[in-house]
Amino acid sequence: MGRIIGITSHLGGVGKTAATLNIGMCLATMGHSVLLLDGDPLAGLALAAGLERRSDRGLYQFLNGAIALEDTIHASRKNGLGLVRTGVTEPAHVHALERRTGWERLWQAVRDLAGQCDYLLIDTGCGHSTLNTLLLGCADSVVMPLPCRTLAVKSLPLFLRFLLRLRQTVQPDLRFAGAIFSMVDSLNPYELEIMTDLRQGFPAATFFSTVIPLDRAFEKAAAHGVPVGLFREYDDLARGYADLATELVQRDRKLQHKGGSSEQPDPLF
Ligand SMILES: Nc1ncnc2c1ncn2[C@@H]1O[C@H](COP(=O)(O)OP(=O)(O)OP(=O)(O)O)[C@@H](O)[C@H]1O
Ligand SMILES: [Mg+2]
Repeated sequence: MGRIIGITSHLGGVGKTAATLNIGMCLATMGHSVLLLDGDPLAGLALAAGLERRSDRGLYQFLNGAIALEDTIHASRKNGLGLVRTGVTEPAHVHALERRTGWERLWQAVRDLAGQCDYLLIDTGCGHSTLNTLLLGCADSVVMPLPCRTLAVKSLPLFLRFLLRLRQTVQPDLRFAGAIFSMVDSLNPYELEIMTDLRQGFPAATFFSTVIPLDRAFEKAAAHGVPVGLFREYDDLARGYADLATELVQRDRKLQHKGGSSEQPDPLF
């Protein structure tokens, strides 16, 4: 079965969706089969991939018996890459998903999808919403884009407690694959100082070595509804995501070999 990796954060607008889309494309380019699950009711991933916000072809509709699981997968033109919608586009859907269908059925559906690919990447909305609890409860590991800003770092412990609670209550095998320094402004000395302090203050495995720079190219890519790496002029950014994808595969393999909940917990938890 494929690995299920949640890309998540306590904060909005930190590059979760950009990371999901671009890492997903790199993994597919490397020859893996990849499904991206848009777990944000605002449908950020679908929009970033050039699709409409609303969809009646998602997990919600599958769990209501309206469509087959296969029909939740939107194939892309890129070999080995598909996008799955939750079909949850209204607040009422989130409640219905939670109350009527039950987490176990959602868990099973996500597992069944993961059975069809090597990697299933879940792009969540920010924070510790019910939907995030449901979706991350299905994941094997999580990755967190982290901006090098004081308030982002100060509010991090609360989110780590949320992940710890998920592990204690719904998914004992959930692992922390690492934080990715995201949208880093290399001209801002305060950001660089925060990054250095964090790297020195935590075990090396806590943070990916590859850093995602702040770059206006992302707005252009978003406007076109494509991964930034598809633009030839941004091949440096594409290379960065390829490095991230390689690191993610290596880190995730290590976590797999560490085994389940009986092993030592990861340092950040
Ligand atoms: N490295 C970057 N440099 C500059 N802009 C970026 C970068 N990554 C993403 N962006 C832009 O910043 C905005 C937020 O990025 P993105 O949607 O990936 O964040 P998010 O964490 O998924 O946000 P949300 O919490 O709203 O889902 C988007 O307009 C995106 O195009
Ligand atoms: Mg997003």
